[in-house]
Amino acid sequence: MPVCMTACLFVPAFEASAHETLGLDAPKPEIAMTPPMGWNSWNKFACNIDEVKIRGAADAMASSGMKDAGYQYVVIDDCWQKDRAADGAIQADPERFPSGIKALADYVHSKGLKFGLYSDIGVKTCGGRPGSRGYEFQDARTWASWGVDYVKVDWCYTGSSEASSSYTIMAKALRASGRDIVFSICEWGDNKPEEWAAGLGHLWRTSGDIRDSWDKDEGYSHSFLWILDHNAGLWANSGPNHWNDPDMLEVGNGGMTDVEYRSHFSLWAMLAAPLIAGNDLSNMDKATLDILTNKDVIAVDQDKLGQQARRVAQNGDTEVWVRPLTGGDRAVVLFNRGADAKTVSVDWDALQLPTGLKASVKDLWSKSVQKGVKGSYSAEVAPHGVVMVRITPTV
Ligand code: GLA
Repeated sequence: MPVCMTACLFVPAFEASAHETLGLDAPKPEIAMTPPMGWNSWNKFACNIDEVKIRGAADAMASSGMKDAGYQYVVIDDCWQKDRAADGAIQADPERFPSGIKALADYVHSKGLKFGLYSDIGVKTCGGRPGSRGYEFQDARTWASWGVDYVKVDWCYTGSSEASSSYTIMAKALRASGRDIVFSICEWGDNKPEEWAAGLGHLWRTSGDIRDSWDKDEGYSHSFLWILDHNAGLWANSGPNHWNDPDMLEVGNGGMTDVEYRSHFSLWAMLAAPLIAGNDLSNMDKATLDILTNKDVIAVDQDKLGQQARRVAQNGDTEVWVRPLTGGDRAVVLFNRGADAKTVSVDWDALQLPTGLKASVKDLWSKSVQKGVKGSYSAEVAPHGVVMVRITPTV
């Protein structure tokens, strides 16, 4: 154990193995008290990105109504990096990002939005670009100097590294960077992140990647239904400034119907998931925009109590999910996985409300309101659809 005198203030970027000595002496910034909202390039564009596309996404976010609905972060995922300079500084791909990352961050900020980037805690990113291993402090300082507000850090090429100590180094580096940066841990749920990630990051992935499919899984890529089921039991781990991340949205990418995308968006809001759109914002139809900007559903996602929903009933193809909200309201999703329309009900018991209590029930998609509802609520739910309501006790 080194004796820490003044020299310890100047820990070189390469001493990754000294993680035991890197206490998290600065607190985690409170910058994700509700789940982060934004856009990320990966689900639509994968490695086929450049500064024109990222600027286009920022323009569209600002002008389409998404910014007004609460979306903030414009995040470049993998493949923006090219190599490192002789002094170790990470370099953007000069062909795809000729103006440099700082100029792009400035542009995003000029739209009143925030800017995010991707890296990896191993030696390479999943796309084979330079990772941050051994460069954590240098990278964090570089990102801070560029004006980065959000960083997603992946788990490829990590060999036999231990997950919590690897991410501890990055947490420390970010906190020492001089800028408040949302830390999105992308470790795929492999090493029980619920036991260590909350103290380090603001959100952590709970599984491998989402794919744009209702129910077709493919190896490491999981369908909407698989990820939903995987997250159902994780509700106790999530809360303000430390969120379960069931992965980014596929709404608008074409692999599901609009009914299915409404289910995906509604249930992500019930899971208190980060709402990170993953479609082409510059080229989306009205149905997609209407889903992504449903303010009532977003208000559930962003509810300050920060409690993830629980699945309180399962009956064949139908389910009931309940999320307690600030002030005693309940968000409820009646969900139908089946191929035929079904009537689904929820009793006040399941909401932990007295049976005799009257409530007003607002359908968050049709916007219709029923007043004086007592004891239970039922609705017909379309195949693969949801009815999502907000229940407000009225005494
Ligand atoms: C991993 C992550 C994805 C994406 C890609 C980029 O698969 O889980 O979300 O960032 O890497 O290569």
